[in-house]
Amino acid sequence: MSSNKEAWGSRVGLVLAMAGNAVGLGNFLRFPVQAIQNGGGSFIIPYLVCFLLMGIPLLFVEWSMGRFGGNYGHHSTPFILGSMSKFGFWKYIGVFGIFTNLAVAAYYCYLESWTLGYIWHSVSGTFSGQTRDDVANFFTGYTSLSNAQPIIFWLICLVLNTWILSRGLSGGVEKVAKVGMPLLIVFGIFLAIRGITLTEGSAGALYSGTTGLNYLWTPNFDTIWEPKVWLAAAGQIFFTLSVGMGSIQCYASYLKSRDDVALNAMSAGWMNEFVEVVLGGAIVIPITVGYFGIDGMLELVNKAGGLGLGFRTLPFLFQQWGPFLAVAASVMWFGLLFFAGITSSLAMGTPCMGFLQDEFGWKRNNAAFAFGAAVFILGLPTVLFFNYGVFDEYDYWAGTVSLVVFAFFEIILFAWIFGMNKGWEEITRGADIKVPIIFRYIIQYVTPVILGWVFFSSIPAIWETISNKGLYEQLATVTDAVQKAELEKTMLYRNLSRLLLLAVWAGIAFMVYIAYRKRVREGRFLL
Ligand code: PHE
Repeated sequence: MSSNKEAWGSRVGLVLAMAGNAVGLGNFLRFPVQAIQNGGGSFIIPYLVCFLLMGIPLLFVEWSMGRFGGNYGHHSTPFILGSMSKFGFWKYIGVFGIFTNLAVAAYYCYLESWTLGYIWHSVSGTFSGQTRDDVANFFTGYTSLSNAQPIIFWLICLVLNTWILSRGLSGGVEKVAKVGMPLLIVFGIFLAIRGITLTEGSAGALYSGTTGLNYLWTPNFDTIWEPKVWLAAAGQIFFTLSVGMGSIQCYASYLKSRDDVALNAMSAGWMNEFVEVVLGGAIVIPITVGYFGIDGMLELVNKAGGLGLGFRTLPFLFQQWGPFLAVAASVMWFGLLFFAGITSSLAMGTPCMGFLQDEFGWKRNNAAFAFGAAVFILGLPTVLFFNYGVFDEYDYWAGTVSLVVFAFFEIILFAWIFGMNKGWEEITRGADIKVPIIFRYIIQYVTPVILGWVFFSSIPAIWETISNKGLYEQLATVTDAVQKAELEKTMLYRNLSRLLLLAVWAGIAFMVYIAYRKRVREGRFLL
């Protein structure tokens, strides 16, 4: 009954698509800021440990899980997980693997559309001759929808995603990855070289590019034992590798039973790390520090995070490089972000489509359209109420908490329920590299324990967020009536967005239930 006949066209295409899935806005905007906020050089040690002990093991697990489920005709996590145990509970854990993709896509596509808007404004010369404040205010105007343009770019972005998804994996996703990934790397290398070679006094810079690099990478062991730093490092590893999301399983479900997963998983994973640590670390921070110094950069980061650097500041700094380079660098920067973004948002679309195609026999075009429409509806609150924290709320619940919850359960399922003997066989079957045996034990013991620790030690922080502690504290100190009303509005919108996300989760769970009943009725079982 499944209408799903998708397949990858080539191995290069698959690896580039998987790398495109992982390489995203997170690599260029989120990583540098996380590193700065968590002690610079002291962040990188927990970060690398998390990559080795959680990132790589989860990549192996998710790729092989996906291939396993795919061989039974499942392309989304509810039924991929469902095919690994007889116990019905796991199907509902799999709901996270559709939910997160949908909810993250809802705010991610909006961000992605800003890059289109900014490419447009770079080319049309909007930023030329603007002061630092003009460029920053432009961003404020843009996100508070001072005109209809951001909405138009957002719609273009949604249509583009839907259209590419409707062309399928080899005809759409793979083609975009084959063009987008190499271009992104070329643009990234160019900007990174500019960033690092910025010298004091040239092009108006006050400091050299290496000042920022040194700041980012000088070890500072003061904060290394703080749990907060470890949580941030783990969170970044999850987000950047797209693990705990369900999209890797979906891409891998289109592999054949003897196709390699081990080498492919490593190629895509390490490519992501190269782009993140080498390129992502060498652009925003060195350039911003070059002009504003470390204190100036820190002030910007604290005020507006990665978006503040990437959108409010860089277009102004590029202007210092002369009229031609200003436009070229700006187009490269936002072009790179656009390719990083779209190859990730396409990955978020495929699990939802796979589910509709497998379970309800939908045609690919209709499934792509359904995804586009769902992102539009769910995304609307983040677009309209961006300045009331709706965007952050989605990012927190879907882009952070859900990943850890899902990864924790899936590794237990893989290593302990499905069983490590079968699991190891899945990882190594058809492998083009010899996977070090130590990973067998890491997957079985180390990863679940660390994940459990991350999960349980974040419960107090999660509870603080649910109870709006920070907002109440702010409210208690504010006396101004207007400000008070704004804060109350923020609280209301935040609460409403949580309810909305909860309803989306429940809605997907209900669809999984219906799909399951349908299977039972038709005598099609999970395995
Ligand atoms: N890994 C992507 C990034 O770094 C984000 C992403 C999330 C991609 C979910 C796919 C699915 O930006």
